Amino acid sequence: MLKIKNIAIFASGSGSNAENIIRYFENNENVKVKILLCNIPTACVLKRADNFGVPSVIFSKDDFYKSDKIIDKLLRNEIDLIVLAGFLWLVPESIIHLYNNRIVNIHPALLPDYGGKGMYGNNVHKAVIADGKKESGITIHYVNENYDDGDIIFQAKCAISDTDTPETLAQKVHALEYEYYPKIIESVLMR
Ligand code: GAR
Repeated sequence: MLKIKNIAIFASGSGSNAENIIRYFENNENVKVKILLCNIPTACVLKRADNFGVPSVIFSKDDFYKSDKIIDKLLRNEIDLIVLAGFLWLVPESIIHLYNNRIVNIHPALLPDYGGKGMYGNNVHKAVIADGKKESGITIHYVNENYDDGDIIFQAKCAISDTDTPETLAQKVHALEYEYYPKIIESVLMR
């Protein structure tokens, strides 16, 4: 019998990607979104996870960087793959080593451009528009000890028109994220 693959999603904000991933695997017998981990107690993503019966873990900076609490959770839940979906803290080296090539992130631009500390969400789209770029997109990549720096797994592009604003660009990028992130997660799980 095939062993079920367990996913842990880390998210900090709205969680529309987290919800999209949870929906995608909802009726999959081989893949389960086992837990949602969140560093912001008021984040909307917590409600989204709860709506689908996915248990949440809220954690502090000290929990993450100065204790084994998160590693214990991951091991106890037999997590196979960590998925970052709008998660804004750097993952500690202890987790990166334990989950070598088993942590993926999505970034709302075409890395290596517009990545690094502080480059998240609308900050990214504002910078891309301010530079007069004609295209942007998404990058799905493995996570290493630096922001937005791990090996790239997949990219998809969208065109930027003269009338686009950071908000309309965010919508185009989100559409790409919803279309591709769950499928790429599925393919990484099968590797
Ligand atoms: C997404 O666009 C994701 O690519 C981005 O945050 C947004 C979260 O939206 N992540 C980063 O910028 C990471 N550097 P969501 O909470 O609605 O899924």
